[in-house]
Amino acid sequence: MSKSARWDKADSESKQLPIYKHKDKLVESVRNSTFLLVSGETGSGKTTQLPQYLYRAGFCKNGKIGITQPRRVAAITVAQRVAQEMQCTLGREVGYQVRFDDCTSQDTVVKYMTDGCLLREILADPGLSQYSVVILDEVHERSLNTDILLGLMKKKFSNPAKATDGRSSPLKVVVMSATLESDKLSAFLNNCPMFSIPGRTFPVDCMFGSAVGPKDIESTGYVKEVVKMALDVHASQMSGDILVFLTGQSEIERACDLLFEKAESIDYRYDVEDQTVEGLLILPLYGSMPTDQQRQIFQPPPPRIRKCVVATNIAATSLTINGIKYIVDSGFVKQLNHNSRVGMDILEVVPISKSEAQQRAGRAGRTSAGKCFRIYTKEFWEKCMPDYTVPELQRTSLTSVILTLKCLGVHDVIRFPYLDCPEERFILEALKQLYQFDAIDRRGRVTSLGELMVEFPLQPGLTRAVLKAATLGCQDLLLPLAAMLSVENIFIRPGHPEKQKEADEKHRGLATISGSTNDFATLLSIFQSCKSSDRPSAWCKENWIHWRALKSAFSVETQLGEILLRLQKRRDFPVETYDGNKSEILRRCLCTGYFTNVARRSMGKMFCTMDGHGSMVHIHPSSSLFDLEAELNWVIFHDVLVTSRVYMRTVCPIRYEWVKDLLPKLHEVDVYELSSVAREEVTDEEMMKWETKEAAKRQQEVAAEDVT
Ligand code: CDP
Ligand code: MG
Repeated sequence: MSKSARWDKADSESKQLPIYKHKDKLVESVRNSTFLLVSGETGSGKTTQLPQYLYRAGFCKNGKIGITQPRRVAAITVAQRVAQEMQCTLGREVGYQVRFDDCTSQDTVVKYMTDGCLLREILADPGLSQYSVVILDEVHERSLNTDILLGLMKKKFSNPAKATDGRSSPLKVVVMSATLESDKLSAFLNNCPMFSIPGRTFPVDCMFGSAVGPKDIESTGYVKEVVKMALDVHASQMSGDILVFLTGQSEIERACDLLFEKAESIDYRYDVEDQTVEGLLILPLYGSMPTDQQRQIFQPPPPRIRKCVVATNIAATSLTINGIKYIVDSGFVKQLNHNSRVGMDILEVVPISKSEAQQRAGRAGRTSAGKCFRIYTKEFWEKCMPDYTVPELQRTSLTSVILTLKCLGVHDVIRFPYLDCPEERFILEALKQLYQFDAIDRRGRVTSLGELMVEFPLQPGLTRAVLKAATLGCQDLLLPLAAMLSVENIFIRPGHPEKQKEADEKHRGLATISGSTNDFATLLSIFQSCKSSDRPSAWCKENWIHWRALKSAFSVETQLGEILLRLQKRRDFPVETYDGNKSEILRRCLCTGYFTNVARRSMGKMFCTMDGHGSMVHIHPSSSLFDLEAELNWVIFHDVLVTSRVYMRTVCPIRYEWVKDLLPKLHEVDVYELSSVAREEVTDEEMMKWETKEAAKRQQEVAAEDVT
């Protein structure tokens, strides 16, 4: 199809979207209000159309239109689509920015971005002076960063009469959401006007299955069940595309492999009910997929072919795929949750909420009646699925956002306007961590180190280690490592057992080229070996490493290097000297960031964490230190995997002396005492009392330090 024919098609499609009829009224409403809430069914055209209407109505004359998305794939694919509709090259008038991938230019006036990116922009430009309109999209998803942005918008831009941070005209804020919780949102935004787009949806017939019941909550058998169900639908149902909801990249890849395999043996003369269907097109859809593959998802399948998209939750609200008539719902989602057993955030597979299940089913009824096949039983629905999804803000670590808020001058982080308040102990836990990393002082004020830390789009511990290395002038050790820890999994795990053995052997070989047995050093040496190779992609293939992941690691390293260079130009950037060998420097730098994740061997293969939780942990079999436990004493680790046991992943042996001075920090602060700091009500007298108590505690610590 020629470019203009494609555009004509997109244009006529966009005129059929429910939002089109309300175009003029919507533009008028934005013009007449500071805050506006727009709600409408998913797929009604909010994300792709409203920014274009505003653009055509002249809202870009004095600044950009910024649209935030909780998910990076959504930001990228929507920007692609809108660039196509506006007939411009992506990155010119229409662009996107997500972490480590900036596709915008001087000309960009319609900018899609992740909510995390806008939060960073506010840090650099508190008045958002480059924008005339900010649209917070997908607010009903209740992502951590969007919730924080919502509070910030309310706090900073409520009063159009008050010129804020050097703005010449007031910022327009539009908040968009699916039809959930509109009244609550409007009330939160000072009773702002609401605009709801009437949408028509068709009935979806939902059926419960018999495969997953309350007893199966911890099993992973759902991948097979979902595949079986999808094939059943393909065989028994009239034409129409299938959307399968699964949990994550590896499950989706496994399901697609199984589907390919089974679909090969279908005899279309006998096995399939609808004789107009002659094939199955299987497409995965998950967050870290390459962009060209993502584009394919939205294209209609060839004639007589049924499309089957196997997706994460991203297809529930952020993206709308046309032509879907059947849903296969696994009932599970991969979610980041704070695990109080280990005191860390952990990605885990959990049952979805009932409202989420309804949203998933609804995707089949957008243009005609549809069907939803659930693999779980009615009993599972009743006993295991909560009514609503808990907002991210109430279930994950707040350390990074609290540092951002503090850097934005929000000192009272407890009384910040949250749409739903996080539990106070989560806030205190975050303050405690920031204090341990020296990012804030005893009174809760951001330190000069904290101001440097907030500039890095990495987790605080890793940032701390990078900054330590930079202080010592050896950032070339930590930057590649930080990049490797920020990209998707780099190790290929083939499905075939023979191939798996071959890959395992190669990976073990890579662990020894680093010279010291230590998973961090392995990552570093993979980065270096691949980078210095003449044919890096061939090098990856030979070593069973994902070339795509390494390529992004190279780009991430460059970007982190640029941020660091900018910070090093500041006059207060600390400089220290150190001599010793590289392996030791690397590990000592890691200790400054990972001392919160330190464990000491207790019995046999078991280790005990030292952060006050005292959990028993094991080394994960994928680590190069697995089976070498007897030779180890103290280790630090990057993260944990929780099954029936808690496993440490990416592990590094250390010496006790390196963390000796840091460990007391883990116990120094009592979170309840921090609560007064959080409220900024602490008196000097209280401070004195607190310090004396702490000095006594530290003495006890020193006395207990006979262990090495
Ligand atoms: O934001 P909302 O859910 O209201 O709708 P939207 O995301 O703007 O989607 C409007 C239409 O654009 C749907 O029919 C999508 O299928 C289509 N679309 C597309 O074809 N390609 C994309 N990359 C994104 C959306
Ligand atoms: Mg949308």
